Amino acid sequence: MRLIVLGAAAGGGFPQWNSACAVGRRAWRRDPAARWRTQCSVAISADGERWTLLNASPDLRQQILATPALHPRRGPRHSPIGAVVLTNGDVDHVAGLLTLRESQPFALYATAAILDVLGSNPIFDVFDSEFVRRHPLVLDQPLELEAGLAIVPFAVPGKVPLYLEGDAVEVGAETEDVIGLELRGAAGARAFFVPGCARLTPALAERLERAALVLFDGTLWSDDEMIRSGTGVKTGTRMGHMSVSGPDGTLAAFAGLHVERKVLIHINNTNPILLDDSPERAQVEAAGWEVAYDGMEITL
Ligand code: MLT
Ligand code: MN
Repeated sequence: MRLIVLGAAAGGGFPQWNSACAVGRRAWRRDPAARWRTQCSVAISADGERWTLLNASPDLRQQILATPALHPRRGPRHSPIGAVVLTNGDVDHVAGLLTLRESQPFALYATAAILDVLGSNPIFDVFDSEFVRRHPLVLDQPLELEAGLAIVPFAVPGKVPLYLEGDAVEVGAETEDVIGLELRGAAGARAFFVPGCARLTPALAERLERAALVLFDGTLWSDDEMIRSGTGVKTGTRMGHMSVSGPDGTLAAFAGLHVERKVLIHINNTNPILLDDSPERAQVEAAGWEVAYDGMEITL
């Protein structure tokens, strides 16, 4: 299984267009220790010919340009992108679908709940169903994407997309609104893609145990980071993201797990782990984690 990180940042990317917070300022200055990152998406393939996108970020066009494996190879119309799998309906994970609107066949997979969200928005009718088939993912049921590559979708604690929150939102429910993906390669390789997660439940921990690779929600370093940096009013908890640090954080939650390679992804532009020389980066690395970057390639 080959995996390419197309985008490692959370919604807004790094730096974010309207943020010159302490971390973002270094990116705007083109500080080499503050590498720019686009919004969260990963491409996976068994054979290196046909690729599946995990989420379609608003930066998808730029990500395709930057990734030779995704360039068309046969004229006049061709794309190695054969499928897109969505892990939720957030703007940073679905807006890039519109980039793929050129009568090009591909399969679109999402839970029935998220397909309903897309189905109720007429802008996605730009996809002719003759070319783009929408397939509901059934939780906990393996789905073969191509020979030697299957996914297993599973619910993770989260919430509905921001634009569907309404007045009362439930955060932390395990529904079809937010899923993680187990990626199964040939020879039993098991990887996981979990870009948003409100809490590591015992069942989720058990699922991840002994995985070869976990790409996990690295949105915020600390729960009140957006408030303290003056960039927002919400906590991570309210947004459905567990923090990296702290007693209930990701580093602590994974401390007892056996995962060969642990990578933080979907990282918010305020998170100091984005800086190569920050104490927070040193702390995640000391705990055995890597911080994803655009173009990162992993072969399992
Ligand atoms: C999130 O990850 O919490 C969302 O992408 C937030 C948003 O929709 O802006
Ligand atoms: Mn997001």
